[in-house]
Amino acid sequence: MIALKEVRKEYLQPNGERLRVLENITFEIAEGMFSSLLGPSGCGKSTILNLIAKLDRHTSGDILVNGNKIGFVFQQPRLLNWRTVTDNVALPLERDNSDKRGRRELAVKYLDLVGLSGFENYYPLQLSGGMQQRVAIARALVIDPDILLMDEPFSGLDEFTARKLRQELIRIWRETGKTIVFVTHSISEAVFLSEQILIVSQKPATIFKRVTVDVPYPREYGDLRLFEIETSLTRDFLEMNSER
Ligand SMILES: Nc1ncnc2c1ncn2[C@@H]1O[C@H](COP(=O)(O)OP(=O)(O)O)[C@@H](O)[C@H]1O
Ligand SMILES: [Mg+2]
Repeated sequence: MIALKEVRKEYLQPNGERLRVLENITFEIAEGMFSSLLGPSGCGKSTILNLIAKLDRHTSGDILVNGNKIGFVFQQPRLLNWRTVTDNVALPLERDNSDKRGRRELAVKYLDLVGLSGFENYYPLQLSGGMQQRVAIARALVIDPDILLMDEPFSGLDEFTARKLRQELIRIWRETGKTIVFVTHSISEAVFLSEQILIVSQKPATIFKRVTVDVPYPREYGDLRLFEIETSLTRDFLEMNSER
């Protein structure tokens, strides 16, 4: 579904110098998979997502993405505060020539999927941060994307809300079968959510390691197997940092 081969990315900085952010990124993601990109702040995770979404261009290497429709969820919900929740979710559909009623119906369906039935006519600022992020997830799903890209979507939330939303995300993923690429700097979050974790090194980034989390869903917080994988990933990070 997604394949990156020897991808390199350099940014031109305001002083005219080039900053190499991605050195050599190679990985593959199969259709329907839940994968995470895990790495420290500033290592280039968002850059990788932006390249997959074709929001930016890579410097060299190959990027293959099977699927034209991509849903994106950011760290901040990025809602329009003067529009109702339903009208926010329906927004990406307005590019099509669909009728307003059809758009509303779809929006309401996806609001239900993210657990927001009854809040259709609320405005974003009347909702909690976690609920706003649910709206953002519904907005990303309403176009029925082939791929859902999520850039630290829960890192602005308190841990209790984040835990709840992670469980909900897994339910939604299993109900919809979407291919999800999830970016995080949290080891425990990556382990809880993912089938595969791609560990991104400090910039200029490479994929330091690919780890499979072979634990069935739905997963429980505090599962010993998850904890063991977390511990071994923590060791990987120590090793990775001592190599540089
Ligand atoms: N448009 C840009 N122009 C110049 N430098 C950028 C740009 N976007 C990101 N960078 C730099 O690239 C590096 C990686 O950024 P980013 O992909 O956002 O990392 P992460 O998401 O892992 O925190 C950072 O050093 C950042 O300052
Ligand atoms: Mg980022």
